[in-house]
Amino acid sequence: MTPTPTRISSTAGLPEVGAVPRHVAIIMDGNGRWATKRMLPRVAGHAKGVDAVRTIVESCARMGVEYLTLFAFSSENWRRPADEVSVLMRLFLTALKREVALLASNGIRLRVVGELGAFDAQLQRLIEKAEQRTEGNARMTLTIAANYGGRWDILQAMQAMLRAHPELAGTPQAIDEAAFAPFLAMAHAPEPDLFIRTGGEQRISNFMLWQLAYTELYFTETFWPDFDAAELQRAIDSYRQRERRFGRTSAQVGSPA
Ligand code: IPE
Ligand code: IPE
Ligand code: MG
Repeated sequence: MTPTPTRISSTAGLPEVGAVPRHVAIIMDGNGRWATKRMLPRVAGHAKGVDAVRTIVESCARMGVEYLTLFAFSSENWRRPADEVSVLMRLFLTALKREVALLASNGIRLRVVGELGAFDAQLQRLIEKAEQRTEGNARMTLTIAANYGGRWDILQAMQAMLRAHPELAGTPQAIDEAAFAPFLAMAHAPEPDLFIRTGGEQRISNFMLWQLAYTELYFTETFWPDFDAAELQRAIDSYRQRERRFGRTSAQVGSPA
């Protein structure tokens, strides 16, 4: 049987390993346990987590990371107690209001991805305004994943693709990665080079399922509120030791033809 030729994909070319990953995607986990360990309510951990966001956004921009994507609220997080969900929404709202000027003046473009229709109208308006205010910025793109789920993204992209190209429903063989990927919520960014999850769990929790196919994974026990520039540097140092092969042999990658 002749193997099917590789479809156009970001994993089709030889891997480029720069000194700094172009796109870093982070599951910011461990806020609740950070607080519980200090006999504080869980929401104190979320408030402290906002400070860590500021630190990591600044550090990434300074290091030359082009895309930073942060998982702030998953489609499954609605299952939490109503009080905690409402504090998270309030923190998101106040952080947006307070930080957007800083992002704008630092050349950072803000994008928010997820099923945003579930948020209240005020939050939706604020998101839209923040995105508009920063859309001309090119130094780094900060994407916040909010009410986001990887499965939701794949399904909404399939639906959007079929709405835009109804003829594809009759020719499913014509659907390839190049036709599909532009409809994903993260289509504005290349696939992540480095994935970080803080808080000790070693799972993906429905984050960027499509895009993480060949991303280097890094897990740390450090809780998100304690994740700082030095911790980020450790993750990047680990990334720089990796050999990205994208299916090839080590010899091929070492001496590209
Ligand atoms: C991550 O921290 C923040 C969100 C999921 C919004 P957690 O709240 O999940 O903290 P832990 O995992 O319970 O410690
Ligand atoms: C993942 O963390 C989602 C975010 C950090 C926003 P969770 O704490 O919700 O993940 P699980 O439930 O432990 O897998
Ligand atoms: Mg958690």
